[in-house]
Amino acid sequence: MSIRTISTQPFLDQKPGTSGLRKKVSAFQKPHYLENFVQAIFNSINAPKGAMLVLGGDGRYYNRPAIQVILKMASANGFGKILVGQGGILSTPAASCVIRKYKTFGGIILSASHNPGGPDGDFGIKFNSSNGGPATETVTEAIFSASKIIGQYQLLDTPDVELDTIGTSKLGDMIVEVIDPVSDYAELMESLFDFAAIRNLLAGDFRIKFDAMHAVTGPYAAEILQYRLGAPAESLMNAVPLEDFGGGHPDPNLTYAPELVKTMYADNAPDFGAASDGDGDRNMILGKQFFVTPSDSLAILAANASLVPAYKGGLAGVARSMPTSAAVDRVARAMNIPCFETPTGWKFFGNLMDAGKVTLCGEESFGTGSNHVREKDGLWAVLFWLNIIAARDQSVEAIVREHWAHFGRNVYSRYDYEGLPVEDAQGVMRHLQASFQSLAGANFGKYTVKLCDDFSYTDPVDGSVSNGQGIRIIFTDDSRIIVRLSGTGTEGATLRIYLEAYDPEVANHHLDAQQALAELIQVALKITELKQRTGREEPTVIT
Ligand code: G6P
Ligand code: ZN
Repeated sequence: MSIRTISTQPFLDQKPGTSGLRKKVSAFQKPHYLENFVQAIFNSINAPKGAMLVLGGDGRYYNRPAIQVILKMASANGFGKILVGQGGILSTPAASCVIRKYKTFGGIILSASHNPGGPDGDFGIKFNSSNGGPATETVTEAIFSASKIIGQYQLLDTPDVELDTIGTSKLGDMIVEVIDPVSDYAELMESLFDFAAIRNLLAGDFRIKFDAMHAVTGPYAAEILQYRLGAPAESLMNAVPLEDFGGGHPDPNLTYAPELVKTMYADNAPDFGAASDGDGDRNMILGKQFFVTPSDSLAILAANASLVPAYKGGLAGVARSMPTSAAVDRVARAMNIPCFETPTGWKFFGNLMDAGKVTLCGEESFGTGSNHVREKDGLWAVLFWLNIIAARDQSVEAIVREHWAHFGRNVYSRYDYEGLPVEDAQGVMRHLQASFQSLAGANFGKYTVKLCDDFSYTDPVDGSVSNGQGIRIIFTDDSRIIVRLSGTGTEGATLRIYLEAYDPEVANHHLDAQQALAELIQVALKITELKQRTGREEPTVIT
């Protein structure tokens, strides 16, 4: 076994986005492409010799070969030990859990999250730091810089490692420990929630349906929901992970989880429905014929946190990304705890959690989580909801409606325009930036613009500044229109318009969000000149 040093040329497109480097599988299959990026990580993170890393992915196509390459490169780069999930599998929250539990230097997670998989689908890779969270922008910038000047990488010349059997082996001087990808995570969940109460709930008439979307949460849901909590086998659907997610788009929302949505809107629907995404960090929550927006979900978890053993002692604070509705702000105000508004991307929550400033956080993009790990966590959110339902003995819909009656409703919707020519999408953004002055104070029917700006965030912990995080048009009644470009797409540009209107009137709370937001939507289309600039009549996805 010898270490080979291989000459390479930089690729200039290895800039990590909202959550690591995501590209088509075919891009990663180009000779040296993956290796260059992995070496750029190793060249930037200053790991001491002999350091330990966690390695695993969501099991999508190309996961296995990529894991082999990374193991051989890690050995050649002087790492001492790698904890790798059996079969190369670790959900994103489980990877975060393992990094923290075994106090490793960090971890490499292979996933393109909710993007489709398979040979024609997407692949992704990201580095998480020792706190278990996605690397900060300083680190991802350093990785990008390193990728632009790379001239060689190191790889151990050795046969592939056996990844399907739990146990320890050597790869050069490095130890490879294949671990059970589920058990550490399941144990953590059991330490947070009232499993006895949930078991009791599931032993009665209460029926649930969890859609793993043929992605990584299948084995996690089977262990936790079925074996540890006693849910019957038919509670799980699409629970066998497939390399191409069965051809689906593993994004838990009303558009991409149609089978679950159909089940939950049928006459004899189960009481509770949920789905998680490709790598297990997102969640969608449904009641009987009822959809819970992620922004409301965060607010409701915060308001009911005292019912969950791990959070009984109170919340230090809460945080949400800027485009997420302000529903949780109202809860924080009532609880007299701080609420932070960060840019989109889970990495911004890490510093706040490490500094003990927040306990719960969430995003409109179907992500919710807490300081138990440093990633958002799909199954955690499902268990939190089940714990609340068990404690309150009420339906999902009743819990949400009571919440609205008490705090008012932040009616919310997001319009996505996918696959736009980059120029068109940037044109909309430039047009908006050029309109700030003329928009200030302008009237649109009942809406008067109070403020419009390009959101900029100063991290209260390390003082770092992130500019250009999305355009905010805020009206005098606190309604908002937010426009930003997605940082996770791999084809063209995706423009997102987020719409939010606050309504304290219980008499209006039965309205469908599209109905309640109809006027604001027209205002958004007018201000953005979306149709003229993109030729799109309708959004690709509405959530
Ligand atoms: C990933 C990140 C999330 C973020 C989302 C935004 O899922 O983990 O923290 O909210 O991307 O995606 P976008 O496509 O809107 O940039
Ligand atoms: Zn994800």
